[in-house]
Amino acid sequence: TVLATVPGLATACSASDGATAPSAPPARAQEGGLPGADGIGDPDFPTDGNGGYDVGHYALKLSYDPAATRLSGTARVTATATQALSRFNLDLHGFTVRSVTVDGRAAGHSRADDELVVTPAQPLAKGARFEVAIDYAGRPEPVRNSSNLGTYGFIPTKDGAFVTAEPNGARTWFPSNDHPADKATFDFDVTVPAGLTVIANGELRGRPVTTGGRTTFSWRETHPMVTYLATITMGRFEVRTGRSPGGLPVYAATDPRYREHLDFLYRTSAKVTDYWSTVFGNYPFSSTGGVIDDFSAGYALENQTKPMYGGFQPDESIIAHELAHQWFGDSVSITRWKDLWLNEGFATYAEWLWSEHNGGTTAARSFQDYYGSEQAALWKYPPGVARPDDLFNASVYVRGAMTLHVLRGRIGDDTFFRLLRAWTGEHRYGNATTEQFIALAEKMSGKQLDDLFDAWLYQPRRPS
Ligand code: ARG
Ligand code: ZN
Repeated sequence: TVLATVPGLATACSASDGATAPSAPPARAQEGGLPGADGIGDPDFPTDGNGGYDVGHYALKLSYDPAATRLSGTARVTATATQALSRFNLDLHGFTVRSVTVDGRAAGHSRADDELVVTPAQPLAKGARFEVAIDYAGRPEPVRNSSNLGTYGFIPTKDGAFVTAEPNGARTWFPSNDHPADKATFDFDVTVPAGLTVIANGELRGRPVTTGGRTTFSWRETHPMVTYLATITMGRFEVRTGRSPGGLPVYAATDPRYREHLDFLYRTSAKVTDYWSTVFGNYPFSSTGGVIDDFSAGYALENQTKPMYGGFQPDESIIAHELAHQWFGDSVSITRWKDLWLNEGFATYAEWLWSEHNGGTTAARSFQDYYGSEQAALWKYPPGVARPDDLFNASVYVRGAMTLHVLRGRIGDDTFFRLLRAWTGEHRYGNATTEQFIALAEKMSGKQLDDLFDAWLYQPRRPS
């Protein structure tokens, strides 16, 4: 056919995935760049994230009306093209997109499933830095009952919203490259009815400003962050701020229903963060804290600088878990979902360490108890191959933690704790893989560790 005779078109067509017709005539496909892929390349989540660019910064200027459950505003996404781009995708679930510009010029846009396809007026050169501005509005729809993940994303509540997006719910409130492989800094300017509080990541930039019965909160996260950790949780909150004994700024907040737990949340978050800084290396961010809202999520999420607890009173153990994630998951982030044990196994092992530190159950005892367990799932589900439909299986947490305990026994306490600090130091604010962890463990211990990791992470049976 005609198409087959045009150089470069086969590539252009296969990458387009039928979502929209290519905007440029076929003969120009190469000189005008190629479409960016509709996924970032994670085989377990093929359409999460996108190809062809790398986001540096999200500036989100949003308004929320809880009575109408309506979110509206503008997202400005600053990115660098990693290939010559004729068009590219962002992930966005729901909403009406009112306009899109690229570097200030009107751009074409279309929607297909959770993809927003943007066609700039002119192709972008490889290496070009560009700014996409998306003006959008609508009623946010969280992701509900998708396999065993429960409800996540932007979840409207009576007085505001509980915003916790792991694994891929950032798209339920802003257009994004929604995959942990692409980290970026964030500005949040969020306007709500006066009397409500907006809680986002990082630090408040000055006092909230109220005019005409509406208050704008401006928050800024200057450290790279994965999209699922971004939050604009809002509603009526009691807030306590101050500094930890070690001198770190602390921000704790609870829904009024949990006000009697505010001091415990504040004190424990401060104490745990100070302690983990001595075990895992310097705290990576500029403040710590925690938030209890009244939405019963059935889980907590380690949102960067501000873990969220969904409708329950967290105990020390879960606070220790979520704050360990600030190093494991938030500062050092996964590159693909099958490595989730690098987050959950480490945070679960931190729970064991916290208990031992406080004279409770030792890590060795926790290991023994689980090793004797007949919970078939632990042994059938190898934690190094996280399944998309059962991502947060207990094995990823518990067998992941057991893997670290076995490693510790094999290489000794001194090397093990130096390894944890080297890991958080080498990949601070970045992304990493299981292979890199194994390589570092082998380098620092001088031992061959393939058998250990293979048995504990990849085999569907209880290691001997
Ligand atoms: N990372 C969270 C934790 O360690 C779990 C998040 C679960 N997310 C979900 N959509 N169910 O506690
Ligand atoms: Zn966790």
